[in-house]
Amino acid sequence: MTKTKGKYLTGVYPGSFDPVTKGHLHLIRRASRMVDRLIVGVAPSRRKGPLFTLQERLSMLRLDLKNLPEKGCEIEVQAFDGLLVEFAREVKATCIFRGLRAVSDFEYEFQMTGMNAKLDPAIETVFLMAADKWQFVSASFVKEISSLGGSVEEFVTPQVAEKLKKKYGKGKKKA
Ligand code: PNS
Repeated sequence: MTKTKGKYLTGVYPGSFDPVTKGHLHLIRRASRMVDRLIVGVAPSRRKGPLFTLQERLSMLRLDLKNLPEKGCEIEVQAFDGLLVEFAREVKATCIFRGLRAVSDFEYEFQMTGMNAKLDPAIETVFLMAADKWQFVSASFVKEISSLGGSVEEFVTPQVAEKLKKKYGKGKKKA
């Protein structure tokens, strides 16, 4: 199945996914309707000092994506270490998807898109506005809420909520 006449389109949705939120999953569903193959690229993001290891982030994403109802698009989760445009070229992607929430996202995204366009003008960045429901959801807030004992079930899937609890030492204890 192709989304455009005779062209098989691949897109990349990159991020740290520390951890994956329902906002990310919604964006993946929407992006997957626009391409034939979507690669969810997970960056190590060492400078951000992630809570979850790269392996944990990949596993959480893969598990959540198993339950995604979208059909007609091959969705893969891959780690990448290096330049995003190089990764996009490697997987033969023609576009990079990014989500935009508040205006505050814009400055950083604007600069990153500009730099990526300079590095490889053939790769287009496509922005999808976050849906109302997920406007304020970010992995950082989810971590903060969870670390302070708050409930994050509304923002992440149950398996991710459980892993957050464990990280913060509030996991289910055996009787
Ligand atoms: O979810 P995030 O943390 O906002 O994702 C940021 C990410 C991983 C997309 C960005 O840091 C990135 O592209 N990293 C790869 C390195 C790179 O290409 N840097 C140059 C960007 S101009």
